[in-house]
Amino acid sequence: MRIAVMASGRGSNLQALIDSMEKGELCAEIVAVLSNKEDALALERARKHGIKDYFIPPERYPDRETYDMAVGDILEKINVDLICLAGFMRILSEKFVNRFHNRIINIHPSLLPAFPGLNAQKQALDYGVKYTGCTVHFVDAGVDTGPIIAQRVVPVYDDDTVESLSARILEQEHRLYPQVVRLIAQGRVVLQGRKVRILKEEVR
Ligand code: GAR
Repeated sequence: MRIAVMASGRGSNLQALIDSMEKGELCAEIVAVLSNKEDALALERARKHGIKDYFIPPERYPDRETYDMAVGDILEKINVDLICLAGFMRILSEKFVNRFHNRIINIHPSLLPAFPGLNAQKQALDYGVKYTGCTVHFVDAGVDTGPIIAQRVVPVYDDDTVESLSARILEQEHRLYPQVVRLIAQGRVVLQGRKVRILKEEVR
């Protein structure tokens, strides 16, 4: 399975995917990393590991749809089976999502449907929940509304700050994302309506 990772920043989730791939555990090849930020550490990580990196500057395109069209053309040209959003901080247009129907997944730092959108960890702290976590889901046209593939739960402590909570969640993100990609690559993730079933056996 050929995958592309889209990231806007630090790229620690990208790194977790790369590490898993290099250990031979991902069952998939990361063939490209794309970013909307020229200085994204994610692009540097890609280059360091011999993965083709693409910086696509949004300013060069008149609107979101045209930008997404250009990104989509690259992804089609390099023939990717799965697109993993890993801290990609741009909303994708409905056209893009439909073009890669059920082939885009995202990782989000909360137990969706709680706390979608930006600053999920701060939202959880402000709300006063005792548990939060992370979610990997298929991307649909809404913001963090697509079918949920897998989640991990993280406790929230009284003395947590956004930083301490984010770090605890991130640790679980780094475990969850490679696991989910592997399950998809093994054909074990089945979408039925908005429910996702994980098969016990690998499908070849
Ligand atoms: C991660 O915590 C990811 O869940 C979050 O951004 C961070 C990226 O970190 N994504 C979102 O909030 C998307 N709505 P990373 O660049 O180190 O992987």
